[in-house]
Amino acid sequence: MSKDAKGIAHGLTNYGDRDFSLYLRRSFAQSMGYSRADLDKPVVGIAYTPSAFNNCHRHFPEMLEAVKRGVLMAGALPLEFPTVSLGEVFLNPTSLKFRNLMSMDTEEMVRAQPMDSVVLMGGCDKTVPAQLMGAVSAGRPAIMLVAGPMMTGRHRGERLGACTDCRRFWAQYRAGTIDAAEISEVEGKLATTAGTCAVMGTASTMACLIEALGMMLPGTAAIPAVHADRLRAAEATGAAAVKLIGSPLTPDKIVNQKSIENALRVLLAIGGSTNAVIHLAAIAGRAGLGVSLERLNELSDTTPVLVNLKPVGNGYMEDFFAAGGIGALLRELKDLLHLDCLTVTGETLGERLNAQDKEAWVDRTIIAERGKPLEPQGGLVALFGNLAPKGAILKRSAADSRLFEHEGRAVVFSSLEDLAARIDDPKLDVEANDILVLQHAGPHSAAAMPEAGYLPIPKKLAVKGVKDMVRISDARMSGTAFGTIVLHVTPDAASGGPLGLVRNGDRIKLSVKERRIVLLVDDAELKRRAAQVPVQAEPPLRGYARLYAQEVLGADEGCDFAFLKPR
Ligand code: FES
Repeated sequence: MSKDAKGIAHGLTNYGDRDFSLYLRRSFAQSMGYSRADLDKPVVGIAYTPSAFNNCHRHFPEMLEAVKRGVLMAGALPLEFPTVSLGEVFLNPTSLKFRNLMSMDTEEMVRAQPMDSVVLMGGCDKTVPAQLMGAVSAGRPAIMLVAGPMMTGRHRGERLGACTDCRRFWAQYRAGTIDAAEISEVEGKLATTAGTCAVMGTASTMACLIEALGMMLPGTAAIPAVHADRLRAAEATGAAAVKLIGSPLTPDKIVNQKSIENALRVLLAIGGSTNAVIHLAAIAGRAGLGVSLERLNELSDTTPVLVNLKPVGNGYMEDFFAAGGIGALLRELKDLLHLDCLTVTGETLGERLNAQDKEAWVDRTIIAERGKPLEPQGGLVALFGNLAPKGAILKRSAADSRLFEHEGRAVVFSSLEDLAARIDDPKLDVEANDILVLQHAGPHSAAAMPEAGYLPIPKKLAVKGVKDMVRISDARMSGTAFGTIVLHVTPDAASGGPLGLVRNGDRIKLSVKERRIVLLVDDAELKRRAAQVPVQAEPPLRGYARLYAQEVLGADEGCDFAFLKPR
């Protein structure tokens, strides 16, 4: 901890008299019961995000106590403060729309309030990228602490966890293989403890990537939410935040092109969520960097899938923790990583890995050896072509490889409302070999890029046993979902992208081998259609919705706001 810590005197409220400002601040702080001795200590802020609308953070009060204990024992004063919290399933139209709001809140409150370093407590999907985006922009020493995953539950002897099993059972219900009584029973057993979704969904993916980036204490990404180790990790994080005081190691130094590549390697090796590509682009963007989808493909070709968790495999996050966690995975990937990247502890990634017990037991049913991967290549692949000039993403590790080279007839839904109205219509003209296309669900649409890319199999096909079809959209997909689903088509339909020009009956060709997604319609016809596209609706008149509509960038730039990127 540096002697230069300013503590409570950091960034005084401006009354035109600095001494008066400090006197007044101390006086008001003492009204909360702090002594002068307390107020002379360095301050660790704690961005604290419990909410009755966020089930994933319900254990935060207990974790907060542990963080504070760690800060106090290391000699500083812990002061928590609230920010926006984003509970994935409680937000309309979708949590992504509010990620940038949370990042702005985090950035401004970290910068405006008197703290020498900050612990960022997040967990549910968008909270972690939002906090890191804000912290990179704020430029103050910071360390992240995540909620940790939920434990699994049981249903009639079968293990279940949110939310891959949510979708699996829902698909069975739609197909008529389980009844209303059973789906209601399952509903009460999917999410039974505090913590984030139990599989390698977006929250767990982001936790793993943040550890790989170096913004979290080693070994803490996968600890289950209710495990005592999570409290020990919280305490250690508090102590580490005190060590960071006065350090030049701010998040904008830890997030660099090499550490972003390390995170991409881990994303590919864990078969992680497609959402992470957007969040990494946004985090990198705050440091003035980008995530190239061409580079993602190069990394994907040379990074094996090693982690056997749902939705691409069998296990749950609690198994990953017991199997050895991110440390064991990083050891397998060591020669593919940039080992000179600095981490929040001051060690390089290489030093961290050298310090680990190389003989530590690893459950090879969950974390495979490099020589015996689950898949020889990475879980994600970027596609390009006249349908997606700036790229699209396919999670090949969660897809049916029989559909990787496929040409089919487009069945188009012009919006989410159109999809909801017609997908189960018995008169819908659709066959198993068709390609379902959803338009106007991208970041520039009123829907704000929800996780709607997992288009349901039309009921008339689902009851015949069809389990997967090629589905294409400018939307996202939950990290817990699976299927041959092309996402994030960029530019999106609402910003004039060619996806909006697809019509029923057009032919579309997908080639994973060639990384191509092509609309087999000639340019002259596409130009004719483009000229007929109606003028976009006016943006909302006021408030955050207006700011979002005016400033949001495409998926290739992480759906950040243009004015939040460094100049
Ligand atoms: Fe919070 Fe899944 S709902 S992580």
